[in-house]
Amino acid sequence: MAEEKPRQFVGSTEFKKGLEGAITNESSISYVDGANGKLIYRGYSIDDLCQGGGGYEETAYLLIDGELPKRAQLEAFKKDLAGRRAIPQPVKDLITQIAPNTHPMNTLRTAVSMLGCLNPKEFEVTVENDLDIAMSLTAQIPTIVGATQRVRRGESIIDPDPSRSLSEDFMHMMTGKDPDPRTAEVMDMALIIHAEHGMNASTFSAMVTNSSLTDLYSSICAGIGSLKGPLHGGANEATLKTFTEIGDPATTEEWFSAAKAKKQKVMGFGHRVYRAYDPRAVIFDPVAKEFAERAGTGHLYEIAKKLEALVVADLGGKGIFPNVDFFSGVIYNAMGIDTDMFTPIFAVARIAGWSARILEYLPDNRLFRPRAVYVGDLEAQYVPIDER
Ligand code: SDX
Repeated sequence: MAEEKPRQFVGSTEFKKGLEGAITNESSISYVDGANGKLIYRGYSIDDLCQGGGGYEETAYLLIDGELPKRAQLEAFKKDLAGRRAIPQPVKDLITQIAPNTHPMNTLRTAVSMLGCLNPKEFEVTVENDLDIAMSLTAQIPTIVGATQRVRRGESIIDPDPSRSLSEDFMHMMTGKDPDPRTAEVMDMALIIHAEHGMNASTFSAMVTNSSLTDLYSSICAGIGSLKGPLHGGANEATLKTFTEIGDPATTEEWFSAAKAKKQKVMGFGHRVYRAYDPRAVIFDPVAKEFAERAGTGHLYEIAKKLEALVVADLGGKGIFPNVDFFSGVIYNAMGIDTDMFTPIFAVARIAGWSARILEYLPDNRLFRPRAVYVGDLEAQYVPIDER
């Protein structure tokens, strides 16, 4: 038995890797009910917000402001956001230059960083100025993502049209086409249910960064960097790649057996908090069926349902169920959106949650600074290089 190494730490050395279960702060922004598979934003269920007809803008207002807007407030908020959608020419030039040869999340991260470089007030860290920046980023990130898909397809960048809703304009800037009402409605719903989710990795990254009182652009870049990873926001892109790799519903079981044998994690399943179905997957399931059948990609939905049955039968007992990323890719694919654009769409939505949590924490800010238990040597003797 290896000799127990000294554990240097004052106080308890009990901890769970990955901060599992750790509490960072109090918040009234959202509650993720992991046991019962429920998600509420400021007390309202995401189901009610999706059906309420207020659109993504209503949810963004609710998350950032704390209350549902009255009609006049929502109209003013929508008008304010619509007026901020344009991006400066240097950012368009940057997208044109880098988007064809790098992952769209890299283009998004770099473009957001450049917006900060172009803002003379980027480092004025107050709730008021950060709210102003958050509003601009909420409006401009859809424009950046739309421009990125256009450039990657060799097409010209489309400028925003403030007369459209955020979701409609986002779809138009991405595809060059007017989305049909149902597509715009579903994109709106997708943005609502992706907008906020407690202390997930990207929100935590953004908050930790912001807790040093740095500029909001740097904090949002940290969130984008974390969201890109396949264990987090990148799972929607990875999940569709799984379905495409399986290809034929009849070979789903064979694929799953091979994945299990390799102890491979199945993308789109599992969650640090949910031990039941992710309520966002429950909302997306019928929409994925509708859109896949509309687009002639019904086989992808069939594969998803077969894989769901296999994984839940095998791992449901361990609390492994479909998460938000399981069906979303089937929907975006049916909308004609390129697969590597799926995670940027997550960021288009999550900017509201990142901003809300940063703005909530800022007035009573405290630097995030955890500790690690030291298990290394304590009194190593230094040996001159030629004697090593
Ligand atoms: C998002 O946090 C959030 O709120 C995130 C999010 C949000 O809105 O911000 O909800 C969005 O990121 C959703 C998750 C998307 N990621 C994926 O779909 C990637 C696949 N999922 C896994 O990597 C995993 O489930 C995580 C990362 C999501 C959660 O992992 P945990 O909590 O660290 O769990 P774990 O890796 O410790 O797994 C516990 C057990 C392990 O088995 P044992 O070693 O105990 O035998 O469950 C198994 C794991 O192997 N397991 C899986 C699995 N996920 C967990 N086995 C197969 N396939 C999986 N997907």
